[in-house]
Amino acid sequence: MRMILMGPPGAGKGTQAPKIKEKYCVCHLATGDMLREQVSKKTPLGREAKKIMDAGGLVSDEIMINMIKNQLETNSECSNGFILDGFPRTVTQAQKLDEMLHSKQQNLLHAIELQIPDSLLVARITGRLVHPASGRSYHKIFNPPKQNMTDDVTGEPLIQRSDDNEATLSKRLATYHDQTSPVVGYYQKTGIWKGIDASQEPGQVWRSLLGIFEGGA
Ligand code: AP5
Ligand code: ZN
Repeated sequence: MRMILMGPPGAGKGTQAPKIKEKYCVCHLATGDMLREQVSKKTPLGREAKKIMDAGGLVSDEIMINMIKNQLETNSECSNGFILDGFPRTVTQAQKLDEMLHSKQQNLLHAIELQIPDSLLVARITGRLVHPASGRSYHKIFNPPKQNMTDDVTGEPLIQRSDDNEATLSKRLATYHDQTSPVVGYYQKTGIWKGIDASQEPGQVWRSLLGIFEGGA
């Protein structure tokens, strides 16, 4: 399995990707999670990235491409394949990914777009709770943790992402429509693109994904 999961902020990429990872024993490379790890370690990249993420912009293509290249080359979990979540986000990133894979005689099997109207994303984003160490996410209403504000697995506290507010969301959405929508068009031309209705409940979204993987959709 080598695939891309695309979609706007709050579409459900981080909710569905761990299920794909578990089913197909592949790595889940979420560039947003990788950047947040740098932010929490207060590295020079993390300090720079935090400003950009909180403003709803994009970190440079060069940095993001090198991050993915490094993971694909060194992360042993990726030997069976990968799910990319949050990458590529620009046409340049998509072109570089193609070059990287071609040089290894590999290709992408799926580029799946989680489709959802912007109007549904405010509630999803403003209600999200995250366990920073694992990247696991919950929702105050749609997927509440078993114990108030703590992770079901570790019992550690959950937090809200600093970019999960309405003002930053509207900038993230504008960036998505401006810079990432052309990536959808890029894959629509290749024949590996498929769209899924991501406004359905999570179990139904998962069944739609399985339908694609099993060749029925
Ligand atoms: P990133 O972390 O990738 O954020 P994003 O794309 O904005 O996506 P989100 O993580 O907000 O949404 P999601 O689709 O994962 O939703 P989730 O499943 O959690 O990137 C953050 C920033 O990093 C970017 O803005 C950028 O600055 C930078 N960056 C990252 N990659 C980059 C790149 N390649 N190039 C340049 N810059 C980059 O779900 C959201 C909530 O909804 C949760 O609470 C969940 O429980 C709930 N939910 C999920 N599905 C459903 C459902 N079906 N029904 C009801 N609720 C649901
Ligand atoms: Zn995410």
